[in-house]
Amino acid sequence: MAIDTPPKGFIGESIKRKEDDRFIRGKGNYLDDISLPGMLHMSILRSPFAHARIRSINTKPAEAVPGVVAVVTGALLEQHKLAWMPTLSGDTQAVLATDKVRYQGQEVACVIATDPYVARDAAQLIDVDYEVLKAVVDPYQALKPGAPLIRDEKKDQKDNHIYHWEAGDKAATEAAFKKADKVVSLETFYPRCHPSPLETCGIVADINPATGQATLYMTSQAPHAHRTLFAIVAGLPEEKIRIISPDLGGGFGNKVPIYPGYVVATAASLLLGHPVKWIEDRSENLISTGFARDFHMQGELAVNKDGKFLALRVKMLSDNGAFYADAQPSKFRAGLFHIVTGSYDLPAAHVETDGAYTNKAPGGVAYRCSFRVTEASYLIERLVESAAVELKMDPAEIRLKNFIRPEQFPYKSATGFEYDSGDYPRALKLALEKIGYEQLRKEQAEKRKRGELMGIGVASFTEVVGAGHGTEYDIAGLRMFDSAELRVHPTGKAILKLGVKSQGQGHETTFAQIVAEELGIPASDVEVQEGDTDNTPYGLGTYASRSTPVGGAATAMVSRKLRDKAKKIAAHLLEASEADIEFDHGKFFVKGAPSKSKTIQDVAFAAYTNLPEGMEAGLEGVTYYDPPNMTFPFGTYVVVVDIDRGTGQVKVRRMVAVDDCGVRINPMIVEGQIHGGLTEGFGIAFMELITFDEEGNCIGSNFTDYLLPTSWETPRFETFETVTPSPHHPIGAKGVGESATVGSPAAYVNAVIDAVGHLGITNIDMPVSSDKVWTALQEKGAAE
Ligand code: CDP
Repeated sequence: MAIDTPPKGFIGESIKRKEDDRFIRGKGNYLDDISLPGMLHMSILRSPFAHARIRSINTKPAEAVPGVVAVVTGALLEQHKLAWMPTLSGDTQAVLATDKVRYQGQEVACVIATDPYVARDAAQLIDVDYEVLKAVVDPYQALKPGAPLIRDEKKDQKDNHIYHWEAGDKAATEAAFKKADKVVSLETFYPRCHPSPLETCGIVADINPATGQATLYMTSQAPHAHRTLFAIVAGLPEEKIRIISPDLGGGFGNKVPIYPGYVVATAASLLLGHPVKWIEDRSENLISTGFARDFHMQGELAVNKDGKFLALRVKMLSDNGAFYADAQPSKFRAGLFHIVTGSYDLPAAHVETDGAYTNKAPGGVAYRCSFRVTEASYLIERLVESAAVELKMDPAEIRLKNFIRPEQFPYKSATGFEYDSGDYPRALKLALEKIGYEQLRKEQAEKRKRGELMGIGVASFTEVVGAGHGTEYDIAGLRMFDSAELRVHPTGKAILKLGVKSQGQGHETTFAQIVAEELGIPASDVEVQEGDTDNTPYGLGTYASRSTPVGGAATAMVSRKLRDKAKKIAAHLLEASEADIEFDHGKFFVKGAPSKSKTIQDVAFAAYTNLPEGMEAGLEGVTYYDPPNMTFPFGTYVVVVDIDRGTGQVKVRRMVAVDDCGVRINPMIVEGQIHGGLTEGFGIAFMELITFDEEGNCIGSNFTDYLLPTSWETPRFETFETVTPSPHHPIGAKGVGESATVGSPAAYVNAVIDAVGHLGITNIDMPVSSDKVWTALQEKGAAE
């Protein structure tokens, strides 16, 4: 039954982002915009050394500076049992160093002052006497006997090894490798990079000394989980803690961990009875907060002569820095890296992972990916490219030969995931068609005859997003469900409150669209609120593209709950039996008599004014949704590059991206997410790198050393879609926030390898610089 004038903002409509009105007018409310009466400012003194014993700390010169209110050291925190805190991966992390510093940039002391610049200047006057120790920055070196012991404060820690973890079937994999015609190997490194949100991390901690009420304005992607962890770690009563995560200027996983600055500012507010603000500068953010990647990977693919994959064997060493603080479900020691079988029907696989401590900042966050899936996707796609080069097969053909076929879904992977749905050949074929693959291959063959270097890189990815279900997935023991609370007011306008927290992804628009679709209330009439623990239902927050699969599902479910009640009220208003009432986009009508109808707005008013006998007033509800499974978005990216033999410069000529995230709620927002991800993937493939010298000095502590792509170098993207709904998601949506970052780096690098593979160059690690390409060409006598 069609309705006359459909309200705007149903699922599938590219309506403009509601939140942009305030953002583009400069009316957003970010952490640094918050200013409270009597507020003090905190600055952190950080270690200049990567590994050093602290002999003494003299705070007197800083204390003497006019305007300084207090200087906090680890020794002071120790008195309050706050010198160490638990990490999200069950390790411990120093809040302020007491015994040693273990990475450059580690927090050593804090100055609280009436002015932020006074706090900063005074912090530089703190005199720390360090005994410099040998640092270790390479995880392989860190695991060698005799390497400096980083975590000597841990009683049972005798070396720098953190964990060993395996997935898959070792025996079946070994057997398959024995039978294979060929083994293709690849050793590669996914370098350390950084989420680099536009807004750095910070807090305004406001503890009222009279009431004990703690209001913490925090750059938090997971305010509810952070509240609980604060209650446990700091011993504050949870009902007295209110975390408000205001507008966030990006997060990308960087705002998931709890950082020492949050803890010290809170402790300082408690001790001083004043609000305390701390906000990082850019270098602090880059050197000390949650990094991403830093995985050393070895993959082997057992293949037959005809290109059929038989098994995958992977060994991975993760460089976790000085504290094992990865943000990931506690059951999985290397996150969901074991999805490394990717989009392929691999009968057997075995994955071994180890983690090592090094003198680097901790983190290991889900930077625009589900817990380490980016690294996995990169490895398998690079390995498949190697197989294509070695077998002299077309990279598209080898993929089509080995894809999980559409009829195999739901598909159980050799490492234990149950993929919900997919049509990988369709996405690949669409990408090939859109780029004009056959023609490009002809062009490439002609150019090769002339000695010109042109490459066509293919990468097909499968993501895994939407954690939980809660039985398998947790953060620090908290089950990964999520929630939505919906209140429809008498005039038919609604407020939707969520446990997730946008950092710029457009939740205020897309979640309102889900309500519009399910209840018919226009999206413009649905106010979406997130990020205030006192005013939103408990949830695990936004990272790993979980908002739509979990929070979005909760929104659909709570809307349906309200629709059921609304139907009863409509039956009462229409004097019909509930069984005879039908609903279509905001209109209830009697079956067979469409002119007898009531709008959702009529029904909302009646929910407060004219109810059926015995029915509770109001139209509101809450749903806590624990998904039955993850969702598995996928896609294929194809990149064309031209390489200059004289300079090694790689020019990305074209980039075609086909993404399938199931049903798209707001196609324009999805496109925006994909463009962002493709840009990030480009940056990682060609520019972004945080590295360290032998002494552990961080090279990449500012944006002149750590290069992010600007619009100048970023290529143009051509984006397309296929739609394979998730069968278990109420609206068939899968997450998309990170797919492009997961899927694209391999496509860029594969394009480079496709251009130079015939010269015997089969691997160049990221970031692929002109230098690296030119050196590789020169070694093969192919540089000009
Ligand atoms: O968790 P996060 O918000 O980072 O990721 P997401 O759930 O993948 O969503 C990113 C943005 O894209 C949100 O505004 C979603 O509602 C939107 N989206 C969509 O419109 N349709 C989809 N199928 C998936 C996401």
